[in-house]
This record gives sequence, C-alpha cells and structure tokens, in this order.
Amino acid sequence: MEILHVSAECYPVAKVGGLGDVVGALPKYQQQLGNIAKVVVPAYRNKYYDTHEFDVVHQAGMWLGHDWYHFNVLKERHNELGFDLYLVDIPGLLDTPGVYGYPNDTERFLAFQVAVLDWVNEWQHHPDVVHCHDHHTGLIPFLMSYGYKYSRLKEIPSVITIHNAQYQGQFGWDKLYLIPGFDLWKAGLLDWGGAINPLAAAIKCAWRVTTVSPGYLEELYTNANGLESLISHERAKTAGIINGIDTAVWDPASDVMIPAHYDPDTIDKGKKENKKALCERFGLDTSLPLVAFIGRLVGDKGADLLPEAIGRSLHELPGEVNFLVLGSGEPHIEWSLQQTRDTVSYGFNLHIGYNESLSHLIYAGADFLLMPSRVEPCGLNQLYALRYGTVPVVRSTGGLKDTVTDFGDKDGVGIRFSQAGIWDICYSVKRAIELYDNKEHLREIRLRGMHTDHSWGRSAQQYLELYQQLTISG
Ligand code: ADP
Ligand code: GLC
Repeated sequence: MEILHVSAECYPVAKVGGLGDVVGALPKYQQQLGNIAKVVVPAYRNKYYDTHEFDVVHQAGMWLGHDWYHFNVLKERHNELGFDLYLVDIPGLLDTPGVYGYPNDTERFLAFQVAVLDWVNEWQHHPDVVHCHDHHTGLIPFLMSYGYKYSRLKEIPSVITIHNAQYQGQFGWDKLYLIPGFDLWKAGLLDWGGAINPLAAAIKCAWRVTTVSPGYLEELYTNANGLESLISHERAKTAGIINGIDTAVWDPASDVMIPAHYDPDTIDKGKKENKKALCERFGLDTSLPLVAFIGRLVGDKGADLLPEAIGRSLHELPGEVNFLVLGSGEPHIEWSLQQTRDTVSYGFNLHIGYNESLSHLIYAGADFLLMPSRVEPCGLNQLYALRYGTVPVVRSTGGLKDTVTDFGDKDGVGIRFSQAGIWDICYSVKRAIELYDNKEHLREIRLRGMHTDHSWGRSAQQYLELYQQLTISG
C-alpha cells in the first residue's frame, strides 16, 4: 500500500512539537511493515533545508486569489529517514525560518495544500491513501472530493488525524476567493460557527477521522473546543489510535545527545551521571529529587500553574526538591517563571527556548517529569520519560490517562492527579519526594516504565488496518 502523509511538521526536517515527532516516525514504521510511505512538508528555510540535497521533481505555478506563485516540489536525494521526503517550496510564502506564527499563515498553508494537490493530481499512479495531519492540511479532503481541478483524486481515500482540536485554523468567509474552484453547493461543508474552519471541513469530508489516543477521542465527543457536536455526529468515522515513539531516536542506550548511556541493567549509574551533568549545568543539587517540565508554555499544558506550584513547593518543602523547566510560549508565563526563579534563588532553574538536545538530557537526568496538562491529546513527553526511567507525574487527561498508571495501583508506572490545580501538583510533588526516598520502590517503578513497550509497531499496524478498510470499501 502507498500512503502519502501531508503535514506542517516532520522531525528532523521541521519540528515544533509532537506532531513533528509523529510524522517523522509513523511513516518509517509503515515502510518497515512493507508499505511505501511518503511525506510532504513545506520547504521552510531552516537548518535541514540548508544542509541537505534535493532534486526538483515538479515545477508549476498557482493562483492564490489574485496573486500568482511559482512553486517547486523537491525530493531529498539521499536520506536516512526511512521514507521518501518531499518539500513544497513556495518562495514568498513558505520560505520562512519558522513553521507557524506568521500573519499570513492562512495563505501559507492554503497555498501548501493547493500545491500538494496540484502535484499529486499529475502523478500517473496515485497513492492508495492521503493521510492529512491537523488543520493545516484540513482542506485537502474537501478539495479532493469537490475541487473542480481534482476530479482525478475523488476516489482516493483521505484520512485526517486530529493531533489537537484546540487549533482549528479558522478564517473569515471574506477569504473564500483564495480557495480554488469547487462545487459551490458544497460550500456549507467549509463552515463551522460562521467561519471557514479547515479542521471542521476535514472532519466532515475525510473518509476517516482519527485522533491520537482513545481517551482523547472520548473527551472530544463532549469537549472539543466547539467541535463536539460535529465529532459526535461523525462518530462512526472516528478512531482513537495511541501514538508510539521512535525507539531508534529515543533510546538511552544509544542516544547521542546524552553524556552517559544506560539500559535497565545500568540504570542507576547511567541516570546518576546524566543527572550530575544536568545539575552542574543548572546549579542544582544532585542529591535531591529533580522534577522537570518540558514543553510549550501555554495554558493547555498547565504551564501557567508552574510558577506558583514551584514557589509553594520550595517554600513548604525547603531543601527537599529541585525543579527545572525547559520551554517557550506565552510571554506572561515565561516572565512569571523568570520572576519565580529570581525570587526563590535556589532549587529552581529554567531554560526559556527550544533545545532538542537539552530535552534529551532532561529526560535522562531528571527523576520526575511533571505534566499538569489541561488538555493532552496524547503527549509524547511521558512516553520518552518512561523510556528513560524518569517517572511521569501527570494530570489524568486524554493520552496521559491512557499511558500512565499510578504507582499506588497494581503495576503503576507514574504518579497521577486529577485536577490541573496548585494543590494537586504540590501534593503529587510530595508523593514524588516520598517515592524518591524509598530507593528500592523507585527503582522498581523506573524499571517497569523502561520495560513498557510504547514503540510504534502496534499503532502503525492499526493505521494500516484502518486504511485497508477504506481501500477495500472504496
Ligand atoms: P505538543 O505537541 O502538544 O507540544 P507532545 O508531548 O506531543 O506535545 O510533544 C512535545 C514534543 O516537543 C516532545 O518531543 C518534547 O520533547 C518537545 N519539546 C517541547 N518543548 C520543547 C523545548 N522547549 N525544547 C525541546 N523540545 C521540546
Ligand atoms: C499535539 C498534542 C499532543 C500530541 C501531539 C502528537 O501536539 O498536543 O498531545 O502528543 O500532537 O500527536
């Protein structure tokens, strides 16, 4: 079977968060299962683009409203990603250093989708499935079904995976003219709540709708940032498939980004050395339990709770615990974390920014990984933590609930709490300290986490079964 993944991110080509990790890993595992998986992403002007070689495989132009853009599709000449990588290069729109956050993001991702469809339309042999990821690619299922230019693509099954329904990519009807011609009787499919909503359009038009954990899917039926009634209505098309992790990239026994390698047999020594390197770098105390946070500093991740939870824990439990935060996001959260660090003066440090290799060192060197998320469709951090023998401390929601059991229960691998609030976090930190003091028990929990299988194998197979149902029924 041949699968084309269309996405705004793909690690290591372009990554902002977990979407990049998933699109950089799932296709590789699909290839290993005997399929052809291809990935197409925008040609951002980033380090990957500058340091790799590409061939132009398609050259064309398109109208985006009243503006004409030339575009090229590039294919990477040789790569070790485990799948074929294609980049859509649209000078003037996609040639940005970053992925998101530009005032013309609507135009940028609309043009990306049109370019992908124009290109695929020209293929002699079309893919068996077009697999879209998140709202940046949400208009593709609609255009494949109703776009005048794309009647050749009508019969190809499309799948949308919702990585996070909080982000839907809405824009006003005044921009309708940017979308290439389609059957106007179908315009209602683009609408949700009076705006053009690419994620809603994808949920309506894709042949199947998946999300990244069964727990999150259940939540979406009642709480999906305004899309709950739509998702409930389309329930028959939905499936929740938990993400896996790329065990070749995330392996403490061979990770090139950490100073000391280890496996379950050498965990004590390995974690100790990595913790030492981490604590030295951030002026923290190696003898105390280290609770870390890695992620986007936004409300959905519960990052706004960190300053008070950290300040209060350090005040109530002085000399008993250390904290480290790596992240970037909303300026007021960054600011109040900096204020907290300056106020408490010991036991807490932070790195504001995005730093891939530091994140690996933290997974390896920290004792606990805190995730007080309000919304967590899957969450990969807790899976990386488990693999590195770091105990996840998570709020019970979405994918966190599906992957982390409490050590107070049978075979538990982490610490769970129910409310995204200061009290619950502080209480969980206290439980973490108690666990840390019981070395034998801590070791047992860590090893259980390391031995849990979260590799892509099973989930990649589930996606294939889902595609097969479509290609047979189609
Ligand atoms: P989300 O996609 O919602 O941000 P996930 O848990 O799925 O959350 O994935 C987050 C990914 O991004 C993980 O690979 C995590 O290590 C990484 N990450 C997040 N913030 C940073 C950062 N500041 N520096 C390095 N890696 C980060
Ligand atoms: C989104 C979600 C996160 C998930 C990731 C990959 O960014 O916020 O929970 O792990 O996508 O699917």
